[in-house]
Amino acid sequence: MKVKILRKEDIDRAIADEFINLIKRKPNAVLGLATGSSPLGVYKLLVEAYKKGEISFKDVTTFNLDEYVGLDGDDDQSYRYFMNTNLFDQVDIDKNNTYVPRGKGNIYHSAQEYDMKIASHGGIDLQILGLGSDCHIAFNEPGTDLNSLTHVTDIAESTIKDNARFFESEDQVPKKAVTMGLNSIMNAKKIVLLATGTNKAQAVRDMVTGSKDPSHPAAVLRNHINCVAYVDQDAASLLEKEVNITIIAD
Ligand code: GLP
Repeated sequence: MKVKILRKEDIDRAIADEFINLIKRKPNAVLGLATGSSPLGVYKLLVEAYKKGEISFKDVTTFNLDEYVGLDGDDDQSYRYFMNTNLFDQVDIDKNNTYVPRGKGNIYHSAQEYDMKIASHGGIDLQILGLGSDCHIAFNEPGTDLNSLTHVTDIAESTIKDNARFFESEDQVPKKAVTMGLNSIMNAKKIVLLATGTNKAQAVRDMVTGSKDPSHPAAVLRNHINCVAYVDQDAASLLEKEVNITIIAD
């Protein structure tokens, strides 16, 4: 894994350029997308590139990492709604080619089919990830099996607290989610993770130097052959490194 320490605006630009270059090179690319506040700047830059006519999403397919159990796509707290608002409704993507795990209905069955669906599209070319403050990726909380595929899971207490900022109160945060597993994520051909702010510093440290076991889910990314973690100086503060450097972590 490469760890690049950059300013937040440079992180957004670098990751957006990865997506833009991929779509130019492969118009029918398969993108792995994430929710949360971290990727918002990247999505803004992708919308801007589309509006300038640099890229088209006409033939692009997307797979999202996760969804809250109990919420359907019309719920403004659902991750489907987040993606529609922040990206899909603003570009020329065919919504039939945008996949988000189902949070309602037969969630176990659709979770089981999700990895097969990804494989049937040839796998994910480029996966973007945020990082939870407890070192989770998607909703793979500490303790998740490293070989996990898409599954229904409990959301950790600390993540419920973190995500409460998006809801009116903590009790409204769903307690369960459907999430791509760690193995599902590791199958992506390239992975870019972004983490900013001091509240991610411990998680970044655990990802970069912690043991590669289920107690630090993001540390498994160090086993991926093509993964870059972009972190700002605050998120890198427990690595005690300066801005504009690249660390190689294995
Ligand atoms: C949620 C999501 C993760 C995301 C994390 C961090 O728990 N399931 O995919 O990475 O939050 O969110 P943020 O980017 O808002 O800090």
